[in-house]
Amino acid sequence: MPDDGPTPLTGRRLLVGVTGGIAAYKAALLVRLLVGDGADVHVVLSRGARAFVGPTTFEGLTGNAVRSEAWEDVPDATHVELGRTADAVVVYPATAHTLAKLAHGFADDLLTTTALAATGPLVLAPAMHAEMWEHPATRANVDVLVARGADVVGPATGPLMGGDRGVGRVVEPETVRDHLVTLLAPGADRTPAAVPGPLSDVRLLVTAGGTREALDPVRFLGNRSSGRMGFAVAEAAAERGADVVLIAAPTDLPTPAGVRRVDVVSARDLDAAVRAHEGAVDAVVMAAAVADFRPEDTLPTKWRRTDGPPTVRLVANPDVLAGVVERRGAAPRPVVVGFAAQTGDLEAAAAAKLADKGVDLLVANDVAAAGIGFESAENAVLVLHRDGARRDVPRAAKRLVADVVVDELHTALRRTAGAQDGTGA
Ligand SMILES: Cc1cc2nc3c(=O)[nH]c(=O)nc-3n(C[C@H](O)[C@H](O)[C@H](O)COP(=O)(O)O)c2cc1C
Repeated sequence: MPDDGPTPLTGRRLLVGVTGGIAAYKAALLVRLLVGDGADVHVVLSRGARAFVGPTTFEGLTGNAVRSEAWEDVPDATHVELGRTADAVVVYPATAHTLAKLAHGFADDLLTTTALAATGPLVLAPAMHAEMWEHPATRANVDVLVARGADVVGPATGPLMGGDRGVGRVVEPETVRDHLVTLLAPGADRTPAAVPGPLSDVRLLVTAGGTREALDPVRFLGNRSSGRMGFAVAEAAAERGADVVLIAAPTDLPTPAGVRRVDVVSARDLDAAVRAHEGAVDAVVMAAAVADFRPEDTLPTKWRRTDGPPTVRLVANPDVLAGVVERRGAAPRPVVVGFAAQTGDLEAAAAAKLADKGVDLLVANDVAAAGIGFESAENAVLVLHRDGARRDVPRAAKRLVADVVVDELHTALRRTAGAQDGTGA
């Protein structure tokens, strides 16, 4: 019997896989919530999980046997039966190791074998240290799983094992339970945007990467922007439920989950793409490094050494950020976020650019400082609001900096919403 009346989970068969992270103890709370909703919960522990939690707690909570290996209960073909009949498979917490196995189709224990036999949705709640979460191997595995339709919930930012802080903390059991309720509600839309997040009513346009201005068919004038900061902002916003379009200048970075990507090359391409989308969004985050100048002429054939050194005349590109602000005029939307790569006195330069460009939020970083900014995995920024509020973000992984930038954008959106309806809230 459900604790508080029927929910979309009542009578559903749920498979909860628990893997070997310190957060495994929280799985008992998740299982208790699901049982409280009247779900028939079956728990599978990975070998790693057994180092952290034992089967007795889960057997007591669910009334079902807890297994780990595919070769237990061979006549019942448990691995196939559990997978086929589950309305959803949830892995809570999901270690980097299990994410890698799931991404590559490994089936060396009951959980991964069952996941291959499963036909319903797969919900993953990753938990690990920030460095593991941000490792390109984990990023790639998560991208594969999301592209295949898995729902990745979290991880959250906060205290981690060993006194560390950062992204990698498992989301709370209630978050996963709420996710399942949305997912399994009758007639539910299975798109990630259907799962509500704090920005689920926000449409966002993000630009990222460095534009390229062609000199001839093989050469271009470019810059050192890697695109990581803008991609991290797009990812952080999408994870909070925003509908994100990402305009990406050339980069090898994978598209963040749930984000629509538009690839561009030059500043003029980027300008055209921004104009095409700006009218339909609540905020524009201009993280791309857009070339101020381009060669006046692009040579139709490759310039050869024997032609001697070319003389290149440059002409100005459109100021994309200024254009967005100008076209918006006095309207409260879109809220405009500018990025400024500065050298020298960061604060003075940031304040000057904020006033000069007329943006709502300016994110400034010192590109002359070692180990941050262009081409690096970390950043340290100063966020200035038009109304004078400010936030210093000390050196951290770009994804963590992106979380703060998205928080500040959320504040700016709330402020302008308040201005619109007159509440000032
Ligand atoms: C104390 C301790 C805590 C761990 N916490 C995590 C964690 O939070 N996330 C993770 O991905 N791996 C963590 N590991 C490493 C995993 O236990 C290890 O990769 C294991 O092979 C995972 O196997 P499984 O995914 O099959 O459970 C931890 C290891 C130890 C010893």
